[in-house]
Amino acid sequence: MMPDVIQDNAYRYFATTVALVTTDGKWGQNVMAAEWAMQVSYEPMLLAIFVHDSPTLWNIKEAGAFGVNIAADDQAELVNIAGGYSGTEIAKLAIPGTFQTYAGKSVPLIKGCALACECRVVSVQEMGDHVMVVGEAVSATFDEKKSPLIYTRGNYRKIGSKLASGRKTVRLSPKAFAEFKRMSGGQFVLKAAAAVVRDDGKKKKKKTLFVRIGNSWMLPAAVPERGTDYKKALSVHLASMGVQAEIGEILGIERVMLKSAGKQALRANFVVFSCTARAKEGEEKEEEEGWFLRPPRNLLLKSLLLFQQT
Ligand SMILES: Cc1cc2nc3c(=O)[nH]c(=O)nc-3n(C[C@H](O)[C@H](O)[C@H](O)COP(=O)(O)O)c2cc1C
Repeated sequence: MMPDVIQDNAYRYFATTVALVTTDGKWGQNVMAAEWAMQVSYEPMLLAIFVHDSPTLWNIKEAGAFGVNIAADDQAELVNIAGGYSGTEIAKLAIPGTFQTYAGKSVPLIKGCALACECRVVSVQEMGDHVMVVGEAVSATFDEKKSPLIYTRGNYRKIGSKLASGRKTVRLSPKAFAEFKRMSGGQFVLKAAAAVVRDDGKKKKKKTLFVRIGNSWMLPAAVPERGTDYKKALSVHLASMGVQAEIGEILGIERVMLKSAGKQALRANFVVFSCTARAKEGEEKEEEEGWFLRPPRNLLLKSLLLFQQT
């Protein structure tokens, strides 16, 4: 059993939207407030609500349909009414000056909401002290101008300001930017595995492997296919450069915003791995790759090297 103190307080750490769940059936047209309501599948578009034994549930079981109307941040009053009274007590939707509805095919829908969906029931399942009802959306409308109301710790709130991305900006030449853009393969975020490959020889001073990008240098990096193992992808990439490396631990993750001339920008994440390999002898500056005792000048994404010291 979960200790009481947890049970009594855990709910305070959730923040949700609130759905006005509408129904129509033997118990009349009704509306209730439900914070436990969410989309659970894109295709088909499924919505789940978790309701206790109430006229809302009885109508749903009887009619096989319900409406999910996501309350806008100017509708807290309606949420209070829908959540504060039961359909066994009063006809909530008939209170003058409150809910304005329009007729859906099977249930009334509420005007002024951020999103209004009409759902056909696909599953009803007991879930602890509530019942999970999953419905497939058969029709939906949304209002771009409305923001959903937020419910947390028993209070209603508006959505706050957007958080900064936390990405450091890195300015690149058009040529280097084009190379990273190419690596991204058109994805919104370039998600790469980068390698700090140190020489595994006996020498005290270890060399590090860099690759050329235009006139600059950078750590070798691969773009693993989505869902595939980053270490393997890096190992294959280094092997394709003729470097048999042992891929070690993750040193860190660096999230940056790559920028070039004009408005060009690309989000990029580099998961940096510590690797060891045998350095080729001699300085091979003319080549596409080279082993350096100190990081070369014209080094792109210098911050990736900060991990080396850890
Ligand atoms: C903000 C808010 C959120 C609520 N969320 C839920 C919920 O997710 N599930 C639930 O069963 N009851 C929830 N309730 C309580 C019901 O809305 C309330 O019991 C309502 O009277 C039920 O309506 P009905 O009896 O007409 O069906 C919530 C109440 C409020 C005020």
